[in-house]
Amino acid sequence: MKKKTNFNLVIVGGGSTYTPGIVKSLLDKKDQFKLEQLRLYDNNKERQDKVAVLVKKVVEMFDPELEVVVTTEPEEAFSDADFIFAQMRVGLYKMRELDEKIPLKYGVVGQETCGPGGLAYGLRTIAPMVEIIDFCEKYASREYWIVNYSNPAAIVAKAMHRLRPDARILNICDMPVAIMRNMANILDCDRHDIVADYFGLNHFGWFTKIRVGEEDRTEELKAYVKEHGYMPPDERSEVRHNDASWKHTFDNAKYLMRMFPDYLPNTYMQYYLLSDQIVKDANKDYTRANEVMDGREKRIFDTVDKYLATGEIDMTPFFTGVHGEFIVEVAMSLAYNLRKRHLVMVPNCGSISNLPEDAMVEVPAYITSEGPEAVRVGEIPTFYKGMIEQQEACEKLIVEAAIEGSYEKALMAFTMNKTVPDAFTAKKILDEMIEANKEYWPELK
Ligand code: NAD
Ligand code: G6P
Ligand code: MN
Repeated sequence: MKKKTNFNLVIVGGGSTYTPGIVKSLLDKKDQFKLEQLRLYDNNKERQDKVAVLVKKVVEMFDPELEVVVTTEPEEAFSDADFIFAQMRVGLYKMRELDEKIPLKYGVVGQETCGPGGLAYGLRTIAPMVEIIDFCEKYASREYWIVNYSNPAAIVAKAMHRLRPDARILNICDMPVAIMRNMANILDCDRHDIVADYFGLNHFGWFTKIRVGEEDRTEELKAYVKEHGYMPPDERSEVRHNDASWKHTFDNAKYLMRMFPDYLPNTYMQYYLLSDQIVKDANKDYTRANEVMDGREKRIFDTVDKYLATGEIDMTPFFTGVHGEFIVEVAMSLAYNLRKRHLVMVPNCGSISNLPEDAMVEVPAYITSEGPEAVRVGEIPTFYKGMIEQQEACEKLIVEAAIEGSYEKALMAFTMNKTVPDAFTAKKILDEMIEANKEYWPELK
């Protein structure tokens, strides 16, 4: 158990569009999760300084005692840090746009974290994430915890487990909990009362059982999802998931549920199982990156400009939702040894008994102050096992490509991905991505 009661918390990627919401979630819990200092750290001063205007304003409104530090200096950011919330986007939205648009040119799924786009993003993020861990090892409290949202979280988690196995990092994703929020709307209960059984990799998994308290509601939920996907009955949704593309994603779950009725799919399975349809539905000239730049990102910067010009503050960017709530809930369970059950990424180590020990799996775990204690899932059926093995091998190869600077392994990873039809296509996408990522990728030989 931690002795300290007031924590120093760093947000890495302080200039992120999610920072205001996460800060608001922290402020909502200020009486239970006490902070000494809130620090924003980013390698893009201009972007972070803008977002910091909003952060300082909301802190002044809700917890004026809290000290806010905004810095691009690692020593200042990480010295004696207890919690590090990581949410970097290496290459910003301009690179996300290319991750999405390059594969689409070749008729392949263009997505932030899935398919070639996710692999490209992985190759950009591994080295910067190692750097953050090394800063923590050098400067932070001995009991630091990095809670990482930085994507592609599956590849980041795998690479960090390989390169920095002793680091105190817990990789998390808000998609399962966002789906559980919709499930709670469908079942008309509080999302905190849902107990989910789940297995898979990050952005690649299935819910096997949904209980509300003690009551098993799985079959009722499956019947609903077959008809309506994860769209709640009255279209209640959070601001972030209200965009047309998200609604389409929640709706697509109905096709997966009808074809594979065993388990309730993570929405990300659409990219692997409905790839052709996803490509047909995509606009090659205007992808999700464009939607976010014209939406969430613009709203944040417009709010800053308006506040600086008029002193009026629009609270929309402070919308917390499950994204902000979840990371704070996980951190509190780490801080106070609450042993709360959450779906998180952990080294498999036998949890899913017929998958490799060193796979980074996403399963339920009890979050203690020493880290996650994963539940035992047991054996999974052939279809799911085969799909996961293919994806896991793909992620393993991209991590090895990054470490060894191996073109051949990168090509294997691209070819292995289920969204890519053949090796020629994989090679064309990879070669174009090498050009586009010159500034960021390790050299592949
Ligand atoms: P964003 O571009 O608005 O913010 C990312 C910030 O990271 C930028 O300010 C950027 O300058 C900074 N950054 C980039 N490289 C850095 C480095 N090496 N060191 C320090 N800072 C660096 O992006 P966003 O849309 O707000 O998303 C932030 C991240 O959170 C992304 O990785 C996104 O994929 C991830 N995310 C993950 C989940 C999840 O479920 N795991 C959910 C939502 C968002
Ligand atoms: C979900 C996923 C994240 C992903 C995000 C993208 O929350 O779990 O991993 O980054 O969606 O959302 P966006 O609104 O940026 O497209
Ligand atoms: Mn995610």
